[in-house]
Amino acid sequence: MDVERIQCLASGLLKELPAQFIRPADERPENTKAVEGVTVPVISLSLPHDILVKQVAEAASDWGIFLITDHGISPTLISQLQEVGQQFFSLPQKEKEAYANDPSTGSFEGYGTKMTKNVQQKVEWIDYYFHMMTPPSKVNYDMWPKNPPSYREVTEEYTKQLLSLTDKVLELLSEGLGLEKKALRSSLGDENMEMEMKINMYPPCPQPELALGVEPHTDMAALTLLIPNDVPGLQVWSQDRWVAVDYLQNAFFVHIGDQLEVLSNGKYKGVLHRTLVNKERMRMSWAVFVAPPHEAVIGPLPPLVNQGNPPKFSTKTYAEYRHRKFNKLPQ
Ligand code: OGA
Ligand code: NI
Repeated sequence: MDVERIQCLASGLLKELPAQFIRPADERPENTKAVEGVTVPVISLSLPHDILVKQVAEAASDWGIFLITDHGISPTLISQLQEVGQQFFSLPQKEKEAYANDPSTGSFEGYGTKMTKNVQQKVEWIDYYFHMMTPPSKVNYDMWPKNPPSYREVTEEYTKQLLSLTDKVLELLSEGLGLEKKALRSSLGDENMEMEMKINMYPPCPQPELALGVEPHTDMAALTLLIPNDVPGLQVWSQDRWVAVDYLQNAFFVHIGDQLEVLSNGKYKGVLHRTLVNKERMRMSWAVFVAPPHEAVIGPLPPLVNQGNPPKFSTKTYAEYRHRKFNKLPQ
């Protein structure tokens, strides 16, 4: 089946937004503006350890999102990652379509245009590329772009470095729960923990005040480490209003996802977020989802549960959680 790509639509000099992208009035950016003067926490990984643990735990509890700086991943590698992703999206359409995904098979790997079902059948203003990064046994390099030729080398290096950054963040989050350092990583499957790359590409949009790039959602996995380009657009829901997350060069935008909310028995919050699009400029972001393997059983961690603090979430496999989330069934 041919899928209409947003990038193709956007390149056709549209003056008006087609009806399927126009959000109901109560969802439109023009009617749900972000509050001014509020910013999400920015945390330097070079802080003394105890202070760092405290700041990370507070940000994960109060916001479910925080930015990290001084993380040790080189700006050169980040630029290279952005470069190869942009190069892929600038390929001729036919070449991109060779990687088109087929979500009906249960896998989203490849080039795609829509990842979630929604109630009003409104379409998000976004194309994406999705593939597994690790563990090696789950990676199928045929699903990675072969063009530009350096895509693989750059993304393999990024995977390696991001895995150690992920370990560090999971250690801090574990300690923030009063658990030993490896607790969360081990709940997420240790060596079998997965990382997935989603390159989000939001073309310029003729009427951005009426559309959304991605609609409000929480990320289903455990943790998301995201690098955007310099076009703003990410907003998070906090204290009953939208808060814009300002771009900060080379900082990682760390989102707490559903699985960490469950494992922490609600101490850490899966952050509700959405993206807006831009009239003149293409926005891109590189989201890495850190997830347990499908067969992992995820529930509130026993040390965090007692008589006074009963489990707030049911325990189930990640496969079951995904099935319910995709089909909008109660968890
Ligand atoms: C996502 C997402 C936000 C962004 O891919 O799940 O929320 O800034 N992306 O692109
Ligand atoms: Ni998200």
